[in-house]
Amino acid sequence: SAQLVETSKRLAAYQAVKDYLLPTYTRIGIGSGSTVVYVVEAIAALGPVVTASMTFYPTGAQSEELIEAAGLNLQYINKLAPGDQLDVAFDGADEVDDDLNLIKGGGACLWQEKIVATAAKQFVCVADFRKLSSQLGTSWTKGIPIEVLPMAAPRILGELKHLGSINPKIREGLPGKAGAIVTDNGMWIIDAPFPPLASGKDCNVDEGGSWTVDALADRLIKIPGVAEIGLFYGKNGLQVQSGAQKPVAAYF
Ligand code: A5P
Repeated sequence: SAQLVETSKRLAAYQAVKDYLLPTYTRIGIGSGSTVVYVVEAIAALGPVVTASMTFYPTGAQSEELIEAAGLNLQYINKLAPGDQLDVAFDGADEVDDDLNLIKGGGACLWQEKIVATAAKQFVCVADFRKLSSQLGTSWTKGIPIEVLPMAAPRILGELKHLGSINPKIREGLPGKAGAIVTDNGMWIIDAPFPPLASGKDCNVDEGGSWTVDALADRLIKIPGVAEIGLFYGKNGLQVQSGAQKPVAAYF
């Protein structure tokens, strides 16, 4: 039931904050979506004595409002000096596989989410029980969210079909998600459904097999006009030299 889902989100959020928000931390990333509401609630519940020394970095307009409404200190990721890092970032996900590969972007905030996640030393995923699945694309069937330059959208749709996406579409608002049609960055979102993705690197798509998370991510990010993709690498990590390469934990 809906009540069970909300309880699951709240429990996951409080546990994640308990385990990964140390009182000595000063810079914290706050992601987007309905689950992160409980993360912010759990942080605010620690009280001003604990949170006064902490500054919170949002992943978009919704996240920014959450931080402000909770009376927490707000700062922007572009104010972080090169080389400086967040101590930890908390964010939701649309689907999580056993290797902590994630589909994100149901709320259209994936680009800033990936920047904040990789700016953090530790990235912690908070989700409810519906989101765990053995293969990405089985519980979240709406497709991989891809943030694109609007003028490139028709070219990208064609390319996605060529890569095997089934009926990719420009997003016009998703039921139950607070996603804008135009992102916080003035871009569009394409939702690209693919057959369920295997974890890991080996990919036999050219022989009629299915894409792996890594192989598909590598191809999608190279399409001209693609700003960012809603695949967040699990055990193989993101391609950054510093910061969180992969989620350190996921809570359900
Ligand atoms: C936002 O773009 C997404 O990546 C969210 O993190 C994701 O959609 C989770 O949202 P909910 O917590 O509302 O399910």
